[in-house]
Amino acid sequence: MPEPVRTLVMTGATSGIGAYALARLTADVRTRAIIGARPSSTRPALDGVQVLPLDLSSLSQVRAFAAAVPGRLGGEGIDMLVLNAGAQFRNTSARSADGFELTFAVNHLAHYLLARLLLPAMAQGGRIVLTTSDTHDPAIFRRAPARVDVRGWAQAPGSAATAYAASKLGNLLTAEAIAALPETAEREITAIAFNPGLTGGTGLSRDFPAALRQAMRALRPVFILLSRLRPQLYMNTPEHAGQVLAQLADGTLTPPASHVYASLVRGQLTYPDPSALAQDPAAREELWRDSADLTGLPAR
Ligand SMILES: NC(=O)c1ccc[n+]([C@@H]2O[C@H](COP(=O)([O-])OP(=O)(O)OC[C@H]3O[C@@H](n4cnc5c(N)ncnc54)[C@H](OP(=O)(O)O)[C@@H]3O)[C@@H](O)[C@H]2O)c1
Repeated sequence: MPEPVRTLVMTGATSGIGAYALARLTADVRTRAIIGARPSSTRPALDGVQVLPLDLSSLSQVRAFAAAVPGRLGGEGIDMLVLNAGAQFRNTSARSADGFELTFAVNHLAHYLLARLLLPAMAQGGRIVLTTSDTHDPAIFRRAPARVDVRGWAQAPGSAATAYAASKLGNLLTAEAIAALPETAEREITAIAFNPGLTGGTGLSRDFPAALRQAMRALRPVFILLSRLRPQLYMNTPEHAGQVLAQLADGTLTPPASHVYASLVRGQLTYPDPSALAQDPAAREELWRDSADLTGLPAR
């Protein structure tokens, strides 16, 4: 009997949380991984990993990646689609190849398009995990957006902090919208939005001064102490966040029925309700429809 294969398609597998998740998932020899990565990325030296070019700042590259994936699946469906790549910038001046604000374009719009293009290639019972953040929630992060405004976020999202939080709300609403699709239920596909929480020692803040990043890492014990008052200040490690991401992707961990949001709070995996906005079906619909419009897809 040939070994059963489990297929993984992933973004953000070359650094930080995603690199640990990839290492864990491919430690199981049944895993065949196809990762999208920029030419400048560190290539993972792991067995069973194919690397295809993907810069999420270009929608045409997202389309080319999505078109190339089925040919690499060897006739199998995708068991695990992990959309983990993300970036944070100091300001909102940079634009994507398509003219959108870069945080919005890379974190949300590219992943929205990729999820929609790859949905037909998902295996029965497959799992889609998008990495979000608790910064989507105004109760936790005061610069989080108070409403969905896809066109505004695409052009002038306000501060860099709001741009990041809005993009992570986009990831969360995308996961909620996928979970609500009739075809997702028919094909028993699970959609999850994973918040790793504040995680030190990754490349996420690479756009910020090195001294600030070093200070943040050195102050981990202080953050952990402060988290007794504000749980969101608990500083996680990329190893632990990567392990939980892998477990959510391969089904070792599963949210309770009807829950999409999985959140590491003080290092423990919890399944809280996301922000009120993230639970609003009208917000979900608006994000889905306007993102479809910007990516040239039909709303359904
Ligand atoms: N660290 C935190 O405190 C924290 C908290 C909440 C949520 N998150 C989320 O966790 C996820 C992983 O972040 P991390 O902290 O592990 O950061 P990281 O080490 O910087 O990893 C980010 C990953 O995204 C990839 N990426 C960034 N821009 C890309 C682009 N234009 N095209 C293709 N790939 C791109 C990077 O590829 P390269 O190797 O080419 O750079 C890298 O693999 C992100 O979605 C982030 O928003 C992080």
